[in-house]
Amino acid sequence: MCGIVGFTGQENALPILMRGLYSLEYRGYDSAGIAAFTEDGLKVIKTKGRISNLEEKLRGEGSFSSTCGIGHTRWATHGGPSDRNSHPHLGGRDGKVAVVHNGIIENYLFLRGQLEKHGYVFQSETDTETVAHLIDYLHTGRQEDLAQTVLKALSLLRGSYALGVVSMDDSSEIVAARRDNPLIIGLGEGENMIASDITAIISRTRRYIILDDNEVAVVRPDRVTVYNQLGDVVDKPVQEVNWDLSAAEKGGYAHFMLKEIMEQPRAFSDTVRPRIQDGEIVFEDNGLTDERLREAGHIHLIACGSAYHAGMVGKAVIEELGRVRCSVSVASEFRYSNPIIREKDLCIVISQSGETADSLAALRQAQRAGAFTLAVVNVVSSTIAREADGVLYTWAGPEIAVATTKAYSAQLAALYLIAAKVAKARGLLDRQTERELCGALLQLPDSIREMLEQIKTVQYLASKYANRSSVFYLGRGLDYAAAMEASLKLKEISYVHSEAYAAGELKHGTISLIEEGTLVVALATQRHLYEKTVSNIREVTARGAEVVLIAAEDFDGDVSACKNVIRLPACMERFAASLSIIPMQLFAYYVAVERSCDVDKPRNLAKSVTVE
Ligand code: AGP
Ligand code: GLU
Repeated sequence: MCGIVGFTGQENALPILMRGLYSLEYRGYDSAGIAAFTEDGLKVIKTKGRISNLEEKLRGEGSFSSTCGIGHTRWATHGGPSDRNSHPHLGGRDGKVAVVHNGIIENYLFLRGQLEKHGYVFQSETDTETVAHLIDYLHTGRQEDLAQTVLKALSLLRGSYALGVVSMDDSSEIVAARRDNPLIIGLGEGENMIASDITAIISRTRRYIILDDNEVAVVRPDRVTVYNQLGDVVDKPVQEVNWDLSAAEKGGYAHFMLKEIMEQPRAFSDTVRPRIQDGEIVFEDNGLTDERLREAGHIHLIACGSAYHAGMVGKAVIEELGRVRCSVSVASEFRYSNPIIREKDLCIVISQSGETADSLAALRQAQRAGAFTLAVVNVVSSTIAREADGVLYTWAGPEIAVATTKAYSAQLAALYLIAAKVAKARGLLDRQTERELCGALLQLPDSIREMLEQIKTVQYLASKYANRSSVFYLGRGLDYAAAMEASLKLKEISYVHSEAYAAGELKHGTISLIEEGTLVVALATQRHLYEKTVSNIREVTARGAEVVLIAAEDFDGDVSACKNVIRLPACMERFAASLSIIPMQLFAYYVAVERSCDVDKPRNLAKSVTVE
């Protein structure tokens, strides 16, 4: 994915574009650029590297101002990070059109070949440059406005895009378009903006329009007009942001990730509290009727990355409470596995951003198969939220760090609620047990807070183990699901290799990797598996491993072989994954800090992968 921002109004656009790009940097950050109208024409400044590199390059251009421009921070798909592959891309021989793009143009090579036959010379390896030249080719010499040309160009494109387009025809107009990638229009007083997400424009306006697939918007300082694919004007509802700017800022923490780790009690609480009334779980109208939950023959959980790991926990709790077959699939595998989906099935797509391409494609596939689809998402009005048959929002607030923490915790909260609703609809949850479950869920934020108080112990462990080249996480059942998420956290922000292993599986091969000094983090929060876990600890310590144990309060196994033990406060063991993940998130964070990694924007990653 990438970040797109545009401004047209009365004020100098440059600082507004730069502020927007900094807010969007978490979406992709291998190169950046802007195109702005000046008295000398359309000026494009772009560079490989972070937004700060662009800012430095801008300073080098001397002082100039503009009241209309577009900006982009890239996550490369076609052509590596470089100055010439960065956006905006100019169209035409005289560079009268500039384009920024998020997504992938699948038929770009064909179009590039056609355009080269018409004399177009390409400067980059990107698919995006094809769009710029195509618009120029279709626009030159024709008496039509840019929006009509863009609509024509879109009919020739295959693939996904969010586009910002400007042309020398009109130095106060931005044309925006989208298919399968998010793009919103910010509405101001005498000014309007485009952006990939609201964080880029919230400092200017809290009112915005969501562009839908195949729509084109003409954005001017005094008005915004949206057209559908046929060129008809469409009315769009105006949305209002429901959180304030401070929620999207660091608030004094060294990194967004640490802030968001610390926000988990609130994220969990905000997700469950509105849905528990007098000891009963009450859902907003999200289509999860008792009948649907009772008749579902199979519940499919579909997601990517950390959301998939949340799904692993969800599967265990749904099957334990609801006694209905539940599967959890990686979306990129699900969609190509010719999945068996029956009409009465329930498909739940879990996604923080609500824009992940693989998860969106899996959602559409499930809908084509006739299943009811529920989106468990964090970003309000995101594409997955709007396309699913029902939505259950995780109220974690904006999550800026690329590595998810509070949204993951809120996903667990949502899945616990769903599991209880499934059990209740199937007559497996009596009133007393439901009260107890609700009490445990309402109490869990305090237990998460208690886990966060062990931050100093974890910081010490991170300083002790920061230079290990590999770390193993072992667990069984729910502990294995938690281990999967712990391992990903460590890998994605500290670049330390790690493996999560079903503890009982280790002896079937991978134990050969255990040697003197190997760090193993073992989890033991499920009573019926305590003894087995003690055996696994013995297996690895006998081969020289150093074990850090994360154990339930009443874990009574022999811990003498463990280097360190972190205890959970008492909790319902089916919810233990919400507690055991806390020290492991903190461990990953502090190891990354020790290793001087860019915690909030790890290399090669982006906050939401809106390309396949
Ligand atoms: C989370 O730490 C990762 N950055 C990544 O695995 C993420 O969970 C995955 O890309 C899914 O994103 P989504 O929840 O926005 O769909
Ligand atoms: N496919 C385009 C490129 O590689 C856009 C990538 C992005 O979404 O940032 O430049």
